[in-house]
Amino acid sequence: MDSKNKSGSIETVIKENRSFPPSAPFTEKAWIHDQADFDKIWNTSQENPVHFWEQQASHLEWAEKWKTVHHWNEPFSQWFVGGKLNVASNCLDRHLEARGNKNALIWEGEDGSVRKFTYQDLHKEVCKLANALENKFNLKPGDTAAIYMPLVPEAVIAMLACARIGVAHSIVFAGFSSHSLRDRIQDAECKVVLTSDIGYRRGQVLDLQKTVREATSQCQSVRATLVFRRENKTELIENEWDWSQLTSHQSPNHRPSFFDSEHPLFFLYTSGTTGKPKGIVHSSGGYLTGVATTAKWIFDLKENDIYWCTADIGWITGHSYVVYGILANGATSVIYEGAPMHPHPGRIWELIDKHKVTILYTAPTAIRSFMRAGNEYPLKYELSSLRLLGSVGEPINPEAWMWYYEMIGKKRCPIVDTWWQTETGAILISPIPGVTTLKPGSATRPFPGIIADIVNEEGKSCAPNEGGYLVIKHPWPSMLRTIHKDPERFKEQYWSKFKGMYFTGDGAHKDENGYFWIKGRVDDVINVSGHRLGTMEIESALVSHPRVAEAAVVGRPDELKGQGIVAFVTPRDSKDKLDIKTLAQELKTHVANEIGALARPDEIKFTKTLPKTRSGKIMRRLLKDLAAGKQITGDTTTLENPGIVELIES
Ligand code: PRX
Repeated sequence: MDSKNKSGSIETVIKENRSFPPSAPFTEKAWIHDQADFDKIWNTSQENPVHFWEQQASHLEWAEKWKTVHHWNEPFSQWFVGGKLNVASNCLDRHLEARGNKNALIWEGEDGSVRKFTYQDLHKEVCKLANALENKFNLKPGDTAAIYMPLVPEAVIAMLACARIGVAHSIVFAGFSSHSLRDRIQDAECKVVLTSDIGYRRGQVLDLQKTVREATSQCQSVRATLVFRRENKTELIENEWDWSQLTSHQSPNHRPSFFDSEHPLFFLYTSGTTGKPKGIVHSSGGYLTGVATTAKWIFDLKENDIYWCTADIGWITGHSYVVYGILANGATSVIYEGAPMHPHPGRIWELIDKHKVTILYTAPTAIRSFMRAGNEYPLKYELSSLRLLGSVGEPINPEAWMWYYEMIGKKRCPIVDTWWQTETGAILISPIPGVTTLKPGSATRPFPGIIADIVNEEGKSCAPNEGGYLVIKHPWPSMLRTIHKDPERFKEQYWSKFKGMYFTGDGAHKDENGYFWIKGRVDDVINVSGHRLGTMEIESALVSHPRVAEAAVVGRPDELKGQGIVAFVTPRDSKDKLDIKTLAQELKTHVANEIGALARPDEIKFTKTLPKTRSGKIMRRLLKDLAAGKQITGDTTTLENPGIVELIES
């Protein structure tokens, strides 16, 4: 899968201009009649994005219509100002009459057990929990609640119950450590934590309640923990409440209040270029407009679709395209708790046949793992229900794209390679199935209403095929509103590199057809299996270990995961006391305990000192080359002491 020297490399694909014209079965779009129609929408939307988004917002249900579509006080954006809506009732109540008995959620566990919730069922459960949160814990609009849960229906119920009562949720992926959970709860000042006693993954039982207890013991803001108990083994302690007992006494009806379009719907912490993850704040009306529109157009959602996005709700993809965007369209969302290759490598394909999944949305790392497992697994299954495939989270190499297209989609299913970020809320660059000619490895063109470009260091548009920075030149409804408690960082991070443009942090180029090819991050963020990690966050974890003097973390190309984590560490121990293998193991575990298993370094290299410039900055470029096993090239004249990266061998 080395993307150089092979027939499917990005370079070859570009040279051959290999492309896949839109395939036929996308004819019933009420909103696009033909290619010319779409081109017209796209061109007009580029001239007047605000008008395009206003039209899209009108498809939602508003209790009060907005007075101003967009208010821009750079870099602070407001959309549909003065409008009032309830996000949860847009996802549930609105569908009850037409499709109350249709499945909203289909859940499957690793052991094969299945639970299905119609829109009616989901509405009831959400109302009960909303009542409990209001009556029992006195939560009010503007409060925040943390959700630390496995991928079970109750996690979705928790999100929608919070949304219903105007409480911003802050979901923390249930693989994060108690430290990470504690930091996020403290930063968002959550009043309630919603959790489960345990979760299941790869046949293992994860003790989530223990992690929550460790975290909340240091969180003064938390008044109660609500536990969805699956095992009933752990006794509840003070301020812990049994979810089922509590909700069973609540009414299944709840009258929604309506909140300002700008009311915060959720916070989601994500890694940045500093040690501390940032709390990305998303709004209600603009966010829902963005995710509902993109879900409908990009996934071509139709009444009988069974849609499965394999992301966890702990990530933005889970928020936007497992829950809000999908339910806002009244579609059926499949969720699976566990690993897609467990208990056997064909598990994902088995589930597709079993539930007759029509649309599959997953990440390139997963696709590469399925590819590596062997064709015999997908070949055992029919996969005939599938009609559309999606990819998200990292660049998809053309080899993986072709495999997905041929082996899974049987050359029938278009692939939507969707580019976006936690901050963008919704997909910004993607093909429209049935309309866009596909090129393997390219996310193709911006969505209507999105003004994207590639610019050079001076902020000038790059020529075709010239590499530069990916920027967005006009605000869009689902964009982050700020970083919680840190508007300065929000300005600095996204709006200061180029005046009037949102800086994505990604490098990319556009080809002569205006197609975008995203290369990856240009900052100190790394992307491991589609999960975003800050190198400084991992460095902070490493230096908190008493035996570490200094640490620098870089990414290195990884065939399976996109990037792997390499840490260069200067130990405090003198050489004769140092047992490299044991310490490396200890440090890997330490990082996993501090942040979560997903941040565990793949390799630790011990060095006597770290290469620094004369002004004291670590020369990461040099470390990246070293981590990737390359010769050190380029200018090292600013290096304090050239030739300094002296590795300590065992
Ligand atoms: O580098 C880009 C990469 O993932 C980053 C955003 O990560 P996160 O906020 O965790 O959101 C991931 C899910 C939306 C981006 O800055 N990325 C995301 N999608 C793609 C991608 N890189 C290339 N192609 C994509 N389709």
